[in-house]
Amino acid sequence: MTNSEIVEETITFVKETLKNAEGGHDWFHIQRVFNNSMLIAKEEEDVNILVVSLGALLHDIADAKFNDGDESLGPKMAEDFLLSLGVPKRTINHVTNIIKYSSFKASLTDGKMKKKLFSSKELKVVQDADRLDAIGAIGIARAFNYGGFKNRALYDPSIPPNLDMTKEEYKKSEAPTINHFYEKLLLLQDKMNTDTGKQLAAERHQYMIDFLEQFYQEWNPLKNLS
Ligand code: ADP
Ligand code: NI
Repeated sequence: MTNSEIVEETITFVKETLKNAEGGHDWFHIQRVFNNSMLIAKEEEDVNILVVSLGALLHDIADAKFNDGDESLGPKMAEDFLLSLGVPKRTINHVTNIIKYSSFKASLTDGKMKKKLFSSKELKVVQDADRLDAIGAIGIARAFNYGGFKNRALYDPSIPPNLDMTKEEYKKSEAPTINHFYEKLLLLQDKMNTDTGKQLAAERHQYMIDFLEQFYQEWNPLKNLS
């Protein structure tokens, strides 16, 4: 099988597997992460495009949140599928490592420890591509979509963002969606690995800053009148 046939087969597999996935992690999220990955990879040197492609396509194949926190399911599904296509063992290992270590939640909370366990150029590309999809216009849309799903307030001036939450507290938090910008989204720009990722993140970051400014203006239209 040629590399492009392997990628085509994987696209078909991922589309089928994610057909009932929730909005934040549906096929279109994967497609955007794949496209972002290609955009970043072509500007970087010595990147294995097959590994990046398969890593991007399979990175959310089984989200632990929806599988009782079982983080081994995604890598296992990817491994079984890639074995069935006859993909070399070494490539499969690299791809499953990308799936294990690409979660931006992992990198925000216990990233230091995990980064030591595995690191590669290809992981950095996929991680950047996934983070980009959490910021900018798409990031804003995903955040409010998530907040709506969880029945959260848009904003509540009496509940300030909390930057010191543990992972457990964060999971239980029912804070308004605006808080998520300060607790996570505005921090992602500084977590980018690649130069291209950093550039793209800077544009998207500014877009969120502008959005927040406009949001507060509309929230409190009398503020600057006297
Ligand atoms: P990923 O699977 O990419 O690691 P998550 O599952 O944590 O990310 O989040 C998926 C999407 O939902 C992201 O766009 C993220 O910003 C958004 N999201 C996660 N938690 C919240 C929250 N508490 N409030 C608003 N949006 C959130
Ligand atoms: Ni993702």
